[in-house]
Amino acid sequence: MTNHKINVALADRSYSVVVGSGVSKELENFLPRTAKRAVIVTQENIPFSINLSLPHTTVLIGNGEQFKSLQTIEVISEQFAKFGLTRSDVVIGLGGGMVTDVAGFAAASWHRGTAVVQIPTTLVGMVDAAIGGKTGVNIAQGKNLIGAFWQPSAVLCDIDALKTLPDRETRCGLGEVAKYHFLTGDDLLALELSARIARCVEIKADIVAADERETGGRAVLNYGHTLAHALERSSDFELAHGEAVAIGMIFAAHLAHSLGRIDDARLAHHYKVIRDSYGLGVVIPRSVDRKVLIDLMRHDKKAINGLTFVLDGANGVEIVGGVEEKYLHQAFDAMELP
Ligand code: GLY
Repeated sequence: MTNHKINVALADRSYSVVVGSGVSKELENFLPRTAKRAVIVTQENIPFSINLSLPHTTVLIGNGEQFKSLQTIEVISEQFAKFGLTRSDVVIGLGGGMVTDVAGFAAASWHRGTAVVQIPTTLVGMVDAAIGGKTGVNIAQGKNLIGAFWQPSAVLCDIDALKTLPDRETRCGLGEVAKYHFLTGDDLLALELSARIARCVEIKADIVAADERETGGRAVLNYGHTLAHALERSSDFELAHGEAVAIGMIFAAHLAHSLGRIDDARLAHHYKVIRDSYGLGVVIPRSVDRKVLIDLMRHDKKAINGLTFVLDGANGVEIVGGVEEKYLHQAFDAMELP
């Protein structure tokens, strides 16, 4: 099976993303030449391991969003210090999106910037979280509110890691894959797994290369994410990220429809792709409160100009600020949330 290699073109911060079976075995070829030792940041339950001849140690972080915290960064950093990790060494993030976000932020902060190589082990990690240099942790007021743009030195997407992925994790990944469908119109389900992941990476790499720090176009990668982040928090993370993104894109479609940005056919297309083709859930859990969701969305990172969403329309998916609350109510009504 051929491997796919995608370049994320960011001048002196450019790097390769390699996708394929067994690619993590090539890890040593992707470590910075200056690295004399490595710290692997991972979790106990990751059923995928890597071989490394470089002197290394492993730091385990807890499972669950509550461990995506500054306290975890402190614990990891203490382990870096004990192991004697220097700025010319390397951190390796091995796990899902939560692990690569945390490992990336720990590396960004350690000695004001130490190299990180990401080895995502979930579909969400491979198609989205580990690519593009967004790293960070949560605080009580919201997800990923503290963090840094810190590009990895390389990303190795070893599809062998996906063999043991629980169905729910696969569904979550498909939520992000469906997002790329709406950004490009590509029929990603027609591709075999490595080619599909590689195409998603390519789409994201182009967007990131054009707007690394999200001063404009990169925001489209947050399609469906405004409601998704609010749903994740208000359901106490009962809904996983990708599941919430799928529902969030349906909400964004209803909102765009209420605003007159898309017609009935385009709204129906969202259901056809997300529910019928990708098999994802599209119903907002009845346990969440509409008012709480709206309040959380007001505090979204994108909400610089009032309630702000990434919405479909005649020009494709784009950022839309100053959305009046009445349109949100119309969208919630259409989705039958009391
Ligand atoms: N996951 C959104 C981004 O990387 O910009």
